[in-house]
Amino acid sequence: MRTSLRALRADITTLAVDAIVNAANSSLLGGGGVDGAIHRAAGPDLLAECRLLGGCDTGDAKLTRGHGLPARYVIHTVGPVWRGGREGEPERLASCYRRSIELAGLHGLATLAFPAISTGVYGYPIEAATVIAVTTVRNTVGQHANIREVTFCCFSADDLAIYERLLRTDRPE
Ligand code: APR
Repeated sequence: MRTSLRALRADITTLAVDAIVNAANSSLLGGGGVDGAIHRAAGPDLLAECRLLGGCDTGDAKLTRGHGLPARYVIHTVGPVWRGGREGEPERLASCYRRSIELAGLHGLATLAFPAISTGVYGYPIEAATVIAVTTVRNTVGQHANIREVTFCCFSADDLAIYERLLRTDRPE
C-alpha cells in the first residue's frame, strides 16, 4: 500500500493523528516553538513522562503518549542546530525523519505529522530542510507498510508553498 504524503498549514497540536512529531531539544524537558506548544496542549503529564526518558541525542527520536493532545502519541526528535551545513547537519536532520518513521513503524502507527524540524530556533534554511524532509520520508516510508499517511504540518503559508512545490516534483533535489 502506497503511503500518501501531504502538506497543510495548521497548528500541529490540533491534529488528531496517531503521532505528532515534536522538534525538541536534547533534554526533552520542553522549550519554545512547537516544543512549547505541544507541552502546553498536552499538559504536565507529558513533561512527567519525558523526565523518565533520560534525554535524546540529536538525530534520534523517542516516543511518549499524547496525554491531553488529540494525537495518541508524540515522537520527540532533536534536530541539528544550523552551523553552515558542513558539520553534519544534513545527515542529522535526515536521521530525525528516518528515526521518527522507524518508531512509528515499530509501534504500528498509521498516521504521522511532522513540523518543519530545525527551521525555527535552530536556524536551518527552510528550502534545504524541506528537500531533506521530503526525500528522507519518501525513501523511508516504503519499509513500513503500516504507515498510511504522513503530513508535513507547516506553520506559515511560505513554508507550505515550499512543501507543496517539492511534493509535486519527483526528485526535489
Ligand atoms: N505547529 C506546527 N508548527 C509549529 C508550531 C505549531 N504549533 N509552532 C512552531 N512551529 C514551527 C516553526 O514555525 C518552525 O517552522 O515549527 C518549526 C520548528 O521551529 P522550532 O519550534 O523553533 O524548532 P527548532 O527550529 O527545531 O528548534 C528546536 O527550539 O523550542 C525549542 O525546545 C526546542 O530547543 C529546541 C529548539
